[in-house]
Amino acid sequence: MNLLLLGKGKTGSLVAEVAAERKHHTCIVGSNENAAGEALTAEKLAGIDTVIDFTAPHCVLANIEACVRAAKNMVVGTTGWYKEVDRVRALVERHKTGFVYAPNFSVGVNLFLDIARTAAATLNHDYSGQIFERHHAHKRDAPSGTAIAIQRVLHEAAPKHENLEITSFREGEVVGLHEVVFESPADRIYLCHDAKSRRSFAEGAVRTAEWLMGKKGFYDFKDVWREL
Ligand SMILES: NC(=O)c1ccc[n+]([C@@H]2O[C@H](COP(=O)([O-])OP(=O)(O)OC[C@H]3O[C@@H](n4cnc5c(N)ncnc54)[C@H](OP(=O)(O)O)[C@@H]3O)[C@@H](O)[C@H]2O)c1
Repeated sequence: MNLLLLGKGKTGSLVAEVAAERKHHTCIVGSNENAAGEALTAEKLAGIDTVIDFTAPHCVLANIEACVRAAKNMVVGTTGWYKEVDRVRALVERHKTGFVYAPNFSVGVNLFLDIARTAAATLNHDYSGQIFERHHAHKRDAPSGTAIAIQRVLHEAAPKHENLEITSFREGEVVGLHEVVFESPADRIYLCHDAKSRRSFAEGAVRTAEWLMGKKGFYDFKDVWREL
């Protein structure tokens, strides 16, 4: 595939590595080349199959609008724009393109969400629950998008219970650790996902771009990862 990778940061550079290993042709664009969207004109996008975005909340919506209007498929890993999900879905449907997004492109984390969903049954049996998340000290947002996704999954599975409390820690270079602890008067259950590197995000995003080739529609990765 001909991939355009937006963002040369911590995750974007790994996406470039994985894409090269999987024999895709890649062009990677950072903020210097795309500060005002100048890398996303129809001319520059000609010949690109799919755009993968790991940039930042302040520019991701402009990137999405330019690429979808140019009828390009997109895989969007950047977070912080989900209040606009309905508007983006309508844009994608209007332009008949393919689009996959996720706060977390790791297959392991998505499997963990399924496990948490099953474990929510404890909340109907005298257990209380808490969510803990740890990330590197440079991470700006708290709680993490993944912790919020865990909280939402548990609430959907046990709607009589209030949202579980999330406690966030920011320290050192922790890639991403999420724990759910259920506690009853008699015992405790611990669920833990500990990311060793960002590589699983990059692999998930590139394999999603492969899956999306020739498809149209607006997808959440949680409904797609089993098919990769
Ligand atoms: N969905 C997932 O699986 C997943 C996983 C990890 C991270 N994320 C999300 O992905 C985003 C990036 O994370 P990260 O850790 O890689 O951050 P990062 O290291 O800060 O990288 C972001 C990069 O985007 C660049 N950028 C900013 N504006 C741009 C523009 N208009 N065009 C092209 N590039 C631009 C920045 O360049 P400058 O430094 O020059 O400004 C920076 O290199 C965040 O929203 C994060 O929450 C999602």
